[in-house]
Amino acid sequence: MDKKEIIRKIKNLKEKQDIVILAHNYQIPEIQDIADFVGDSLDLSLKATKTDAKNVIFCGVDFMAESAKILNPDKNVIIPDKDAKCPMAAMVDTESLGWLIKDNPDAEVVSYINTTADIKAISDICCTSSNGVKVVKGRSSKKIIFVPDRNLGLYVQRFVPEKEMILWPGICPTHHKISEGEILEIKEKHPNSEILVHPECRPEVIDIADHAFSTNGMVNYAKKSKSKEFIIGTEKDLCYRLKKENPDKIFYPLKSAVCPNMKKITLRKVLKSMESLEPKIELSQDIMKKAKLPLQRMMDMGRGD
Ligand code: 13P
Ligand code: SF4
Repeated sequence: MDKKEIIRKIKNLKEKQDIVILAHNYQIPEIQDIADFVGDSLDLSLKATKTDAKNVIFCGVDFMAESAKILNPDKNVIIPDKDAKCPMAAMVDTESLGWLIKDNPDAEVVSYINTTADIKAISDICCTSSNGVKVVKGRSSKKIIFVPDRNLGLYVQRFVPEKEMILWPGICPTHHKISEGEILEIKEKHPNSEILVHPECRPEVIDIADHAFSTNGMVNYAKKSKSKEFIIGTEKDLCYRLKKENPDKIFYPLKSAVCPNMKKITLRKVLKSMESLEPKIELSQDIMKKAKLPLQRMMDMGRGD
């Protein structure tokens, strides 16, 4: 079957099977094109609660699809490749976090949405890269255990010096390897460009940037900025959406910034999932109930960028 035929079948099945397709900003261009909504982690969680469709095909990584399921326990949430897993989310486990909580009974746990449902279930509140500062600022405790992204934690700490943050040593392999050198090399060739980076980048990279934003934060900023050129310090396929929505502007991706797990979702796998409504996200009722509270608390706070 050729690509055109797959896309035609996907379009037909949407209505027939009562399906909505949600896709993260890092998905390959053809997935972004067939999706009903493309967004960042927070936006997609919000969209998942607003859809009437019985079946959600989630084109992203495991923790995103799990969050959609936790927020919509009565819907079928289907991820076209179960191996599309965020390695950062796997860097914190409940036993080790449990020990840290025991040692710090006066601390609240803020978990980045890039965590498993089990970790959310023992957290006080979740956050995304869009609202991390707002969420931490809003906690009543002085002490915060922040998991799992140390770089995001360090970024948040800049804006909340009044909090004592205990940072888990997790990282995103894709963002952690972005270097100042790679960015400055492009800047030298395009001196009028603005540098936008994701807060999952190392502090040295954030220091040379004009702004640090979530992926939707970058989309919103690029739209309203007077600049015509931007260096994009995050997963390179965000540039596809940026270019599509701003055809008169130029976006320079970092060629090395690829999230291999996001690329596991293909058109063929999406079609297969739409036909079979498999593989579904399955979580225990107990974990879903416990994980919903910190997610809902975060959603009630809204965006921070
Ligand atoms: P956003 O919420 O900014 O889209 O980030 C998600 C993510 O996984 C970044 O690596
Ligand atoms: Fe996880 Fe990094 Fe990929 Fe985002 S870019 S899904 S944090 S590995």
